[in-house]
Amino acid sequence: MPKAWIRERKNEFYYKKAKAENYRSRSTYKIVQVNNKYGFINLHDVVVDLGAAPGGWIQATRKIVGRRGFVLGVDLKPIEPFPQEYVRTILGDLTDPTIAEQILSFLPRKPDAVVSDAAPNVTGVWEVDHAIQIDLASKSLDVALQILRSGGNFFVKLFQGDLMEEFVQTVKGHFDEVKIVKPDASRAKSSEMYLLALGLKTNFND
Ligand SMILES: C[S@@+](CC[C@H](N)C(=O)[O-])C[C@H]1O[C@@H](n2cnc3c(N)ncnc32)[C@H](O)[C@@H]1O
Repeated sequence: MPKAWIRERKNEFYYKKAKAENYRSRSTYKIVQVNNKYGFINLHDVVVDLGAAPGGWIQATRKIVGRRGFVLGVDLKPIEPFPQEYVRTILGDLTDPTIAEQILSFLPRKPDAVVSDAAPNVTGVWEVDHAIQIDLASKSLDVALQILRSGGNFFVKLFQGDLMEEFVQTVKGHFDEVKIVKPDASRAKSSEMYLLALGLKTNFND
């Protein structure tokens, strides 16, 4: 069977599954699959979702954390509000130097996890898209380091390329364990990968 055909069928599968299960994006399954394996988000956790529109990851994480948890979604674009009082969304730019302070003002306490699926509009020029993605991932890391509780977890989208290794090394300096993962729901053809960092080492946040 041609590989392109299999890939196409897989993409269609997640697209249809998201529609049938009322998820706002097929991306939802990426965070669900990685969390099922590594359990980096748990019941009653406080989670910050950077680049959260249209809200698929928020839908998945709110089910994991439950009503005694809290989920805050941040995006440049408005996100259709959620009825649950433990889910909030704000308009915001994760590259804004004041964003960490703004985020903390909405949270009941320091988050257990910061996740970022933030992505730029692709230019189609691979080197440019890779560099912009790594820059957004670095800015997401800056935010995570300012707000996460000690021992907290970080999950972020990357595009593979020559700048990735340096970023991975930087993250390793801050967390106990770092893994690069490619969930089944991520398009096989794309250079999209995710970095999962477990256990923020420092405790100067606490
Ligand atoms: C792939 S989508 C996220 C999909 C989301 N995880 C879901 O499941 O619905 C990427 C998002 O990143 C957002 N984004 C890009 N740059 C951003 C920035 N500087 N600050 C906040 N959000 C940003 C975009 O507006 C877009 O909504």
